[in-house]
Amino acid sequence: MKVLIIGGGGREHALAWRLAASPSVTELHCSPGNPGIAQVAVCHSSTDYVHLAESLGIDLTVVGPEAPLVAGVVDQFRALGRHIVGPTAANAALEGSKVYSKRFMQKLGIPTARFETLESAEEARAAFPRFRFPLVLKTDGLAAGKGVIIAQDLAEAEDALTQLAYPLVLEEFLQGEEVSFIALCDGRTAVALEPSQDHKRIFDNDQGPNTGGMGAYSDSRILNENQRSSILETVILPVVRATGFTGFLYAGLMMTSDGPSVLEFNVRMGDPETQPLMMRLDCDWAEALLASARGALSPTHLRWSPKPATCVVLASEGYPGTVHSGRRIEGLAASTGCQVFHAGTCQTEEGIVTAGGRVLGVTALGETLEASIENAYAGVAQIHFEGMQYRKDIGFRGLRSLRSTSVQ
Ligand code: AMP
Ligand code: GLY
Repeated sequence: MKVLIIGGGGREHALAWRLAASPSVTELHCSPGNPGIAQVAVCHSSTDYVHLAESLGIDLTVVGPEAPLVAGVVDQFRALGRHIVGPTAANAALEGSKVYSKRFMQKLGIPTARFETLESAEEARAAFPRFRFPLVLKTDGLAAGKGVIIAQDLAEAEDALTQLAYPLVLEEFLQGEEVSFIALCDGRTAVALEPSQDHKRIFDNDQGPNTGGMGAYSDSRILNENQRSSILETVILPVVRATGFTGFLYAGLMMTSDGPSVLEFNVRMGDPETQPLMMRLDCDWAEALLASARGALSPTHLRWSPKPATCVVLASEGYPGTVHSGRRIEGLAASTGCQVFHAGTCQTEEGIVTAGGRVLGVTALGETLEASIENAYAGVAQIHFEGMQYRKDIGFRGLRSLRSTSVQ
Protein backbone atom coordinates (compact mmCIF):
# COMPACT_ATOMS: atom_id res chain seq x y z
CA MET A 1 0.00 0.00 0.00
CA LYS A 2 1.30 3.46 -0.91
CA VAL A 3 0.47 5.93 1.83
CA LEU A 4 0.57 9.74 1.89
CA ILE A 5 0.52 11.73 5.13
CA ILE A 6 -0.52 15.38 5.04
CA GLY A 7 1.22 17.55 7.65
CA GLY A 8 4.62 18.19 9.12
CA GLY A 9 4.51 18.28 12.92
CA GLY A 10 5.18 15.92 15.81
CA ARG A 11 1.84 14.17 15.33
CA GLU A 12 2.66 13.48 11.69
CA HIS A 13 6.15 12.23 12.57
CA ALA A 14 4.60 9.76 15.03
CA LEU A 15 2.02 8.68 12.42
CA ALA A 16 4.78 8.27 9.82
CA TRP A 17 7.02 6.32 12.21
CA ARG A 18 4.20 3.87 12.98
CA LEU A 19 3.07 3.60 9.35
CA ALA A 20 6.64 2.92 8.25
CA ALA A 21 6.50 -0.15 10.53
CA SER A 22 3.17 -1.36 9.06
CA PRO A 23 3.75 -4.60 7.14
CA SER A 24 1.25 -3.54 4.45
CA VAL A 25 3.00 -0.23 3.63
CA THR A 26 5.29 -0.40 0.59
CA GLU A 27 5.86 3.34 0.09
CA LEU A 28 5.43 6.22 2.49
CA HIS A 29 5.15 9.86 1.41
CA CYS A 30 4.51 13.04 3.37
CA SER A 31 3.81 16.66 2.48
CA PRO A 32 5.35 18.85 3.75
CA GLY A 33 6.99 16.57 6.33
CA ASN A 34 9.99 17.63 8.43
CA PRO A 35 13.58 16.42 8.98
CA GLY A 36 12.40 13.65 11.33
CA ILE A 37 9.73 12.42 8.92
CA ALA A 38 12.34 12.46 6.13
CA GLN A 39 14.06 9.57 7.95
CA VAL A 40 11.07 7.30 7.26
CA ALA A 41 9.16 8.85 4.33
CA VAL A 42 9.73 10.75 1.09
CA CYS A 43 8.88 14.40 1.78
CA HIS A 44 7.20 16.69 -0.79
CA SER A 45 6.48 20.40 -0.74
CA SER A 46 3.19 20.42 -2.64
CA THR A 47 -0.05 21.70 -1.16
CA ASP A 48 -2.00 20.34 -4.13
CA TYR A 49 -2.56 17.09 -2.27
CA VAL A 50 -4.98 15.61 -4.79
CA HIS A 51 -2.50 16.09 -7.61
CA LEU A 52 0.30 14.68 -5.46
CA ALA A 53 -1.75 11.57 -4.58
CA GLU A 54 -2.72 11.03 -8.23
CA SER A 55 0.80 11.44 -9.54
CA LEU A 56 2.29 9.09 -6.93
CA GLY A 57 -0.52 6.51 -7.26
CA ILE A 58 -1.32 6.76 -3.55
CA ASP A 59 -3.72 4.14 -2.12
CA LEU A 60 -4.44 5.85 1.18
CA THR A 61 -4.03 9.43 2.43
CA VAL A 62 -4.01 10.33 6.11
CA VAL A 63 -4.60 13.94 7.16
CA GLY A 64 -2.81 15.15 10.32
CA PRO A 65 -3.79 18.78 10.96
CA GLU A 66 -7.20 20.46 10.94
CA ALA A 67 -6.58 23.22 8.38
CA PRO A 68 -6.67 21.02 5.22
CA LEU A 69 -9.76 19.26 6.61
CA VAL A 70 -11.59 22.54 7.18
CA ALA A 71 -10.51 23.55 3.65
CA GLY A 72 -12.21 20.43 2.19
CA VAL A 73 -9.37 18.08 1.26
CA VAL A 74 -11.47 15.01 2.11
CA ASP A 75 -14.30 16.18 -0.16
CA GLN A 76 -11.82 16.66 -2.99
CA PHE A 77 -10.34 13.17 -2.59
CA ARG A 78 -13.74 11.48 -2.31
CA ALA A 79 -15.00 13.24 -5.45
CA LEU A 80 -12.22 11.39 -7.28
CA GLY A 81 -12.87 8.09 -5.49
CA ARG A 82 -9.59 8.19 -3.54
CA HIS A 83 -9.32 6.74 -0.04
CA ILE A 84 -8.57 9.31 2.66
CA VAL A 85 -8.80 9.36 6.47
CA GLY A 86 -10.51 12.49 7.76
CA PRO A 87 -13.89 14.23 7.94
CA THR A 88 -15.60 16.29 5.22
CA ALA A 89 -15.36 20.08 5.43
CA ALA A 90 -18.93 20.18 6.76
CA ASN A 91 -18.01 17.83 9.62
CA ALA A 92 -14.67 19.56 10.24
CA ALA A 93 -16.71 22.58 11.38
CA LEU A 94 -17.08 20.71 14.69
CA GLU A 95 -13.54 21.88 15.37
CA GLY A 96 -13.44 24.90 13.06
CA SER A 97 -16.19 26.73 14.96
CA LYS A 98 -16.77 26.59 18.73
CA VAL A 99 -20.18 28.20 18.27
CA TYR A 100 -21.26 25.51 15.81
CA SER A 101 -19.81 22.76 17.97
CA LYS A 102 -21.50 23.93 21.19
CA ARG A 103 -24.89 24.33 19.46
CA PHE A 104 -24.46 20.92 17.84
CA MET A 105 -23.76 19.27 21.21
CA GLN A 106 -26.74 21.04 22.74
CA LYS A 107 -28.98 19.78 19.89
CA LEU A 108 -27.77 16.18 20.22
CA GLY A 109 -27.86 16.19 24.03
CA ILE A 110 -24.11 15.55 24.31
CA PRO A 111 -22.92 16.59 27.80
CA THR A 112 -21.06 19.93 27.69
CA ALA A 113 -20.62 23.02 29.90
CA ARG A 114 -23.47 25.59 29.99
CA PHE A 115 -22.67 28.39 27.54
CA GLU A 116 -23.76 31.56 25.76
CA THR A 117 -22.66 32.89 22.39
CA LEU A 118 -21.83 36.59 22.23
CA GLU A 119 -21.29 38.92 19.31
CA SER A 120 -19.69 41.93 21.04
CA ALA A 121 -17.92 43.12 24.18
CA GLU A 122 -21.14 44.83 25.33
CA GLU A 123 -23.09 41.60 25.04
CA ALA A 124 -20.34 39.70 26.85
CA ARG A 125 -20.28 42.23 29.73
CA ALA A 126 -24.03 41.92 30.07
CA ALA A 127 -23.67 38.13 30.27
CA PHE A 128 -20.92 38.09 32.97
CA PRO A 129 -23.41 38.23 35.89
CA ARG A 130 -25.06 35.04 34.62
CA PHE A 131 -21.79 33.12 35.25
CA ARG A 132 -19.57 32.50 38.26
CA PHE A 133 -15.80 33.01 38.28
CA PRO A 134 -13.60 31.43 37.10
CA LEU A 135 -15.24 32.00 33.74
CA VAL A 136 -14.15 30.48 30.43
CA LEU A 137 -13.98 32.62 27.25
CA LYS A 138 -13.39 31.00 23.86
CA THR A 139 -12.75 32.39 20.40
CA ASP A 140 -15.04 30.92 17.75
CA GLY A 141 -12.46 29.95 15.09
CA LEU A 142 -9.28 27.84 14.91
CA ALA A 143 -6.61 29.11 17.30
CA ALA A 144 -4.07 26.26 17.68
CA GLY A 145 -5.17 25.62 21.27
CA LYS A 146 -4.55 29.24 22.24
CA GLY A 147 -8.04 30.72 21.82
CA VAL A 148 -9.23 29.95 25.35
CA ILE A 149 -8.87 32.24 28.38
CA ILE A 150 -9.89 31.25 31.89
CA ALA A 151 -10.66 34.48 33.73
CA GLN A 152 -10.38 34.32 37.53
CA ASP A 153 -12.16 37.63 38.09
CA LEU A 154 -13.92 40.49 36.35
CA ALA A 155 -10.66 42.33 35.57
CA GLU A 156 -9.25 39.26 33.78
CA ALA A 157 -12.52 38.76 31.92
CA GLU A 158 -12.43 42.42 30.77
CA ASP A 159 -8.87 41.92 29.62
CA ALA A 160 -9.87 38.77 27.70
CA LEU A 161 -12.50 40.74 25.82
CA THR A 162 -9.73 42.80 24.22
CA GLN A 163 -7.67 39.73 23.26
CA LEU A 164 -10.22 37.38 21.70
CA ALA A 165 -12.03 37.70 18.38
CA TYR A 166 -15.85 37.68 18.14
CA PRO A 167 -18.17 35.81 18.23
CA LEU A 168 -17.17 34.49 21.63
CA VAL A 169 -18.36 31.53 23.60
CA LEU A 170 -18.72 32.16 27.33
CA GLU A 171 -19.00 29.00 29.38
CA GLU A 172 -19.04 27.72 32.92
CA PHE A 173 -15.77 26.44 34.39
CA LEU A 174 -15.68 22.68 34.95
CA GLN A 175 -13.53 20.85 37.47
CA GLY A 176 -11.96 17.42 37.13
CA GLU A 177 -9.30 15.45 35.27
CA GLU A 178 -9.05 16.09 31.55
CA VAL A 179 -8.99 13.09 29.21
CA SER A 180 -8.33 13.01 25.48
CA PHE A 181 -10.73 10.45 24.04
CA ILE A 182 -10.01 9.81 20.37
CA ALA A 183 -12.05 7.48 18.17
CA LEU A 184 -11.45 6.30 14.63
CA CYS A 185 -14.76 6.59 12.72
CA ASP A 186 -15.80 5.08 9.40
CA GLY A 187 -19.10 6.86 8.77
CA ARG A 188 -21.27 4.30 10.54
CA THR A 189 -19.30 3.10 13.54
CA ALA A 190 -16.35 4.14 15.71
CA VAL A 191 -13.54 2.39 17.56
CA ALA A 192 -11.90 4.16 20.50
CA LEU A 193 -8.13 4.52 20.70
CA GLU A 194 -6.53 4.18 24.13
CA PRO A 195 -7.16 7.14 26.46
CA SER A 196 -4.51 9.80 26.97
CA GLN A 197 -3.99 13.05 28.84
CA ASP A 198 -2.49 16.25 27.48
CA HIS A 199 -0.72 19.02 29.46
CA LYS A 200 -1.94 22.28 27.96
CA ARG A 201 -0.35 24.89 30.23
CA ILE A 202 3.19 26.07 29.57
CA PHE A 203 4.56 25.72 33.11
CA ASP A 204 4.75 22.94 35.73
CA ASN A 205 1.73 22.42 38.00
CA ASP A 206 -0.54 23.62 35.19
CA GLN A 207 0.51 27.25 35.50
CA GLY A 208 0.76 29.94 32.81
CA PRO A 209 -0.99 30.30 29.47
CA ASN A 210 -2.42 27.48 27.35
CA THR A 211 -0.27 26.03 24.59
CA GLY A 212 -0.84 23.48 21.82
CA GLY A 213 0.24 20.85 24.38
CA MET A 214 3.51 20.46 26.35
CA GLY A 215 3.39 16.71 26.80
CA ALA A 216 1.05 13.75 27.06
CA TYR A 217 0.87 10.24 28.38
CA SER A 218 -1.32 7.28 27.57
CA ASP A 219 -2.17 4.66 30.18
CA SER A 220 -5.03 2.12 29.98
CA ARG A 221 -6.06 2.90 33.55
CA ILE A 222 -7.19 6.44 32.65
CA LEU A 223 -10.62 4.99 31.73
CA ASN A 224 -12.16 1.64 32.64
CA GLU A 225 -14.23 -0.44 30.21
CA ASN A 226 -17.55 0.98 31.46
CA GLN A 227 -16.36 4.55 31.06
CA ARG A 228 -15.04 3.84 27.55
CA SER A 229 -18.25 2.28 26.31
CA SER A 230 -20.37 4.97 27.93
CA ILE A 231 -18.31 7.77 26.31
CA LEU A 232 -18.48 6.01 22.96
CA GLU A 233 -22.27 5.72 23.30
CA THR A 234 -23.06 9.20 24.66
CA VAL A 235 -20.40 11.37 22.98
CA ILE A 236 -18.89 9.75 19.87
CA LEU A 237 -21.60 7.59 18.29
CA PRO A 238 -24.29 10.32 18.38
CA VAL A 239 -21.97 12.43 16.20
CA VAL A 240 -21.27 9.52 13.82
CA ARG A 241 -24.97 8.69 13.54
CA ALA A 242 -26.01 12.31 12.99
CA THR A 243 -23.31 13.24 10.50
CA GLY A 244 -21.77 10.07 9.04
CA PHE A 245 -18.50 11.26 10.55
CA THR A 246 -15.30 9.76 9.11
CA GLY A 247 -11.73 10.08 10.39
CA PHE A 248 -10.59 10.86 13.91
CA LEU A 249 -13.06 12.36 16.32
CA TYR A 250 -11.27 13.66 19.38
CA ALA A 251 -13.37 14.56 22.40
CA GLY A 252 -11.53 16.70 24.93
CA LEU A 253 -13.34 15.60 28.09
CA MET A 254 -13.53 16.91 31.62
CA MET A 255 -14.26 14.01 33.98
CA THR A 256 -16.51 15.95 36.38
CA SER A 257 -18.26 14.56 39.46
CA ASP A 258 -21.41 14.43 37.27
CA GLY A 259 -19.67 12.37 34.58
CA PRO A 260 -17.72 13.21 31.42
CA SER A 261 -18.41 16.59 29.80
CA VAL A 262 -17.09 17.62 26.37
CA LEU A 263 -14.78 20.67 26.47
CA GLU A 264 -14.14 20.55 22.75
CA PHE A 265 -14.28 18.38 19.69
CA ASN A 266 -11.29 18.10 17.39
CA VAL A 267 -11.61 16.37 14.04
CA ARG A 268 -8.09 14.92 13.97
CA MET A 269 -5.67 13.20 16.29
CA GLY A 270 -4.19 15.25 19.12
CA ASP A 271 -0.70 16.66 19.16
CA PRO A 272 1.11 15.54 21.37
CA GLU A 273 -1.33 12.71 22.29
CA THR A 274 -0.56 10.92 19.01
CA GLN A 275 3.09 10.49 20.02
CA PRO A 276 2.49 8.19 23.04
CA LEU A 277 -0.47 6.54 21.28
CA MET A 278 1.62 5.54 18.28
CA MET A 279 4.23 4.02 20.60
CA ARG A 280 1.54 1.88 22.22
CA LEU A 281 -0.12 0.80 18.97
CA ASP A 282 0.55 -2.87 18.26
CA CYS A 283 -1.16 -3.72 14.95
CA ASP A 284 -0.99 -2.93 11.23
CA TRP A 285 -1.94 0.73 11.43
CA ALA A 286 -2.26 1.18 7.66
CA GLU A 287 -4.75 -1.72 7.45
CA ALA A 288 -6.84 -0.20 10.22
CA LEU A 289 -6.84 3.23 8.57
CA LEU A 290 -7.71 1.78 5.16
CA ALA A 291 -10.60 -0.17 6.71
CA SER A 292 -11.91 3.07 8.21
CA ALA A 293 -11.61 4.89 4.86
CA ARG A 294 -13.54 2.03 3.20
CA GLY A 295 -16.32 2.11 5.81
CA ALA A 296 -15.39 -1.36 7.05
CA LEU A 297 -13.78 -0.71 10.44
CA SER A 298 -14.10 -3.23 13.28
CA PRO A 299 -12.74 -3.23 16.84
CA THR A 300 -10.37 -6.09 15.91
CA HIS A 301 -8.41 -3.70 13.67
CA LEU A 302 -6.82 -1.98 16.69
CA ARG A 303 -4.52 -3.60 19.23
CA TRP A 304 -2.42 -1.93 21.91
CA SER A 305 0.54 -2.65 24.10
CA PRO A 306 -0.49 -2.62 27.78
CA LYS A 307 2.64 -0.56 28.50
CA PRO A 308 2.05 3.15 29.17
CA ALA A 309 3.91 5.78 27.12
CA THR A 310 4.89 9.39 27.86
CA CYS A 311 5.86 12.26 25.55
CA VAL A 312 7.71 15.35 26.81
CA VAL A 313 7.62 18.34 24.44
CA LEU A 314 10.76 20.48 24.10
CA ALA A 315 9.72 24.01 23.14
CA SER A 316 11.54 27.12 21.99
CA GLU A 317 12.31 30.15 24.09
CA GLY A 318 9.29 32.47 24.04
CA TYR A 319 6.67 29.78 23.34
CA PRO A 320 3.63 30.11 23.37
CA GLY A 321 4.39 33.73 22.42
CA THR A 322 6.88 34.89 19.81
CA VAL A 323 9.63 32.29 19.54
CA HIS A 324 13.33 32.31 18.71
CA SER A 325 14.13 29.90 15.87
CA GLY A 326 17.30 28.77 14.08
CA ARG A 327 19.02 27.38 17.18
CA ARG A 328 21.17 24.32 16.67
CA ILE A 329 19.88 21.16 18.33
CA GLU A 330 22.55 19.01 20.01
CA GLY A 331 22.30 15.40 21.17
CA LEU A 332 19.59 14.15 18.80
CA ALA A 333 21.57 11.05 17.88
CA ALA A 334 22.30 10.16 21.50
CA SER A 335 18.77 9.36 22.62
CA THR A 336 18.43 5.61 23.05
CA GLY A 337 15.27 3.89 24.27
CA CYS A 338 13.18 6.87 23.17
CA GLN A 339 11.61 8.04 19.97
CA VAL A 340 12.37 11.69 19.33
CA PHE A 341 9.54 12.99 17.17
CA HIS A 342 10.33 16.18 15.28
CA ALA A 343 7.82 19.06 15.24
CA GLY A 344 9.41 22.47 14.59
CA THR A 345 12.81 21.55 13.17
CA CYS A 346 14.69 22.45 10.01
CA GLN A 347 17.65 20.82 8.29
CA THR A 348 20.47 23.28 7.51
CA GLU A 349 24.09 22.90 6.48
CA GLU A 350 25.10 23.25 10.15
CA GLY A 351 22.73 20.48 11.20
CA ILE A 352 19.18 20.38 12.52
CA VAL A 353 17.97 23.67 14.01
CA THR A 354 14.80 24.81 15.77
CA ALA A 355 12.00 26.17 13.57
CA GLY A 356 8.88 26.97 15.56
CA GLY A 357 7.30 26.78 19.00
CA ARG A 358 7.14 23.08 19.78
CA VAL A 359 10.40 21.59 18.54
CA LEU A 360 10.60 17.93 19.60
CA GLY A 361 8.49 15.33 21.41
CA VAL A 362 10.67 12.89 23.33
CA THR A 363 8.55 9.78 23.79
CA ALA A 364 9.09 6.48 25.59
CA LEU A 365 7.27 3.34 26.67
CA GLY A 366 7.73 1.83 30.12
CA GLU A 367 6.61 -1.18 32.12
CA THR A 368 4.73 1.30 34.32
CA LEU A 369 3.68 4.93 33.85
CA GLU A 370 6.48 5.94 36.21
CA ALA A 371 9.04 4.02 34.12
CA SER A 372 7.78 5.58 30.86
CA ILE A 373 8.13 9.05 32.43
CA GLU A 374 11.66 8.25 33.60
CA ASN A 375 12.58 6.88 30.18
CA ALA A 376 11.26 9.96 28.40
CA TYR A 377 13.14 12.36 30.73
CA ALA A 378 16.32 10.29 30.30
CA GLY A 379 15.96 11.02 26.57
CA VAL A 380 15.31 14.71 27.24
CA ALA A 381 18.55 14.91 29.27
CA GLN A 382 20.54 14.05 26.12
CA ILE A 383 19.15 16.93 24.05
CA HIS A 384 19.99 20.60 24.18
CA PHE A 385 19.35 23.82 22.32
CA GLU A 386 19.62 27.42 23.49
CA GLY A 387 16.47 28.57 25.30
CA MET A 388 14.99 25.03 25.39
CA GLN A 389 12.02 24.88 27.75
CA TYR A 390 9.97 21.90 28.87
CA ARG A 391 7.76 20.83 31.71
CA LYS A 392 9.36 18.69 34.41
CA ASP A 393 6.06 17.16 35.53
CA ILE A 394 4.59 15.42 32.48
CA GLY A 395 2.57 12.41 33.65
CA PHE A 396 2.68 13.39 37.33
CA ARG A 397 -1.08 14.05 37.42
CA GLY A 398 -1.51 10.52 36.13
CA LEU A 399 0.81 9.14 38.81
CA ARG A 400 -1.36 10.84 41.45
CA SER A 401 -4.81 10.14 40.03
CA LEU A 402 -4.14 6.57 38.84
CA ARG A 403 -2.36 5.41 41.99
CA SER A 404 -5.46 3.73 43.34
CA THR A 405 -6.55 2.25 39.99
CA SER A 406 -5.30 -1.22 39.06
CA VAL A 407 -4.46 -2.18 35.48
CA GLN A 408 -7.41 -3.92 33.83
P1 AMP B 1 -10.48 23.88 24.47
O1 AMP B 1 -9.70 24.42 23.29
O2 AMP B 1 -11.92 24.20 24.41
O3 AMP B 1 -10.21 22.42 24.73
O4 AMP B 1 -9.84 24.56 25.72
C1 AMP B 1 -8.47 24.49 26.01
C2 AMP B 1 -8.26 24.15 27.46
O5 AMP B 1 -8.89 25.11 28.29
C3 AMP B 1 -8.85 22.81 27.87
O6 AMP B 1 -8.01 21.76 27.60
C4 AMP B 1 -9.04 23.04 29.35
O7 AMP B 1 -7.85 22.87 30.05
C5 AMP B 1 -9.44 24.47 29.44
N1 AMP B 1 -10.91 24.58 29.41
C6 AMP B 1 -11.68 24.78 28.33
N2 AMP B 1 -12.99 24.84 28.66
C7 AMP B 1 -13.04 24.68 29.99
C8 AMP B 1 -14.11 24.63 30.95
N3 AMP B 1 -15.39 24.81 30.59
N4 AMP B 1 -13.78 24.43 32.24
C9 AMP B 1 -12.49 24.28 32.62
N5 AMP B 1 -11.45 24.32 31.79
C10 AMP B 1 -11.71 24.51 30.49
N1 GLY C 1 -3.25 18.29 22.26
C1 GLY C 1 -4.43 18.99 21.98
C2 GLY C 1 -4.77 19.11 20.58
O1 GLY C 1 -4.18 18.47 19.72
O2 GLY C 1 -5.70 19.85 20.28
